[in-house]
Amino acid sequence: MVMAETNVVRADGIFQPVLPKGDVVDMAKKRREPDAEKAKFACRDVRVFYGASEALHGIDMEIANSGVTALIGPSGCGKSTFLRVFNRMNDTIPNARVTGDILMDGEDIYGKKVDPVLLRARVGMVFQKPNPFPKSIYDNVAYGPRIHGLAVSNSELDYIVEKSLKRAGLWDEVKDRLKESGTGLSGGQQQRLVIARAIAVSPEVILMDEPASALDPIATAKLEELIDELKEKYCILIVTHSMAQAARVSQRTAFFHLGDLVEYDDTQSIFTNPKDQRTQDYITGRTG
Ligand SMILES: Nc1ncnc2c1ncn2[C@@H]1O[C@H](COP(=O)(O)OP(=O)(O)OP(=O)(O)O)[C@@H](O)[C@H]1O
Ligand SMILES: [Mg+2]
Repeated sequence: MVMAETNVVRADGIFQPVLPKGDVVDMAKKRREPDAEKAKFACRDVRVFYGASEALHGIDMEIANSGVTALIGPSGCGKSTFLRVFNRMNDTIPNARVTGDILMDGEDIYGKKVDPVLLRARVGMVFQKPNPFPKSIYDNVAYGPRIHGLAVSNSELDYIVEKSLKRAGLWDEVKDRLKESGTGLSGGQQQRLVIARAIAVSPEVILMDEPASALDPIATAKLEELIDELKEKYCILIVTHSMAQAARVSQRTAFFHLGDLVEYDDTQSIFTNPKDQRTQDYITGRTG
């Protein structure tokens, strides 16, 4: 396998992979449809260190193949750190080190043969602050398919762009202004544009780190509707500080506290019948 040599982590933290063509085409073809019976990820004794300090203390967890899993917990408990384990984004942080096993469809994603850049095509990520590229709306969505060599013609690329924007619930709002800059859209539209960009390369998993925290209530509601639609096709992991949002969008919720996974259950049980005192204190607003 040819490893990409020109990956760039931009100053604003956006990871811009430049991918070898052939491999990614194969990868996209390899996209697995969700199998509800199976776990997408299995984590065994996952620890993340920043220098000598251990931020996650041995997490054992399985993530379902489809549907939405919410990660909740007080600030600094390790939610973002844990999310970044799944697309190896912690690898881009100089002093970070990950130990333990993380299997995706049974394959060790930290194995020697795995190219993290190719992994990130399968496991897309959406951040708190929408980060469209300073390019047109069209080019934002076409970016991934172009570098991945996913379209053989312009009309095929048009089709992928339209399909992705439709799936992200943005097409009707932007179809007459595809050549305008993505950065000129509203915050909520930018977040949906970034999601369209992520799904344009047919990922299997979408990681979302507080994706609605910079959005107003209407844009948040639209984003939540979108997450609800996407959950049939994708495995979605979402970090949120909003209990109400976790309750609305997720089927399973994991509560983290000081680097430990305290409780993990179906969302309704977590919110109506938490078993651990720390979970109860957090969801009732006594801590955090
Ligand atoms: N790049 C880094 N270098 C050193 N320590 C870090 C780094 N990133 C996170 N940490 C530490 O790891 C722990 C977990 O941080 P993390 O950002 O994962 O928490 P979080 O649950 O996402 O918090 P928040 O809700 O505030 O976003 C914290 O103690 C934090 O200070
Ligand atoms: Mg965080």
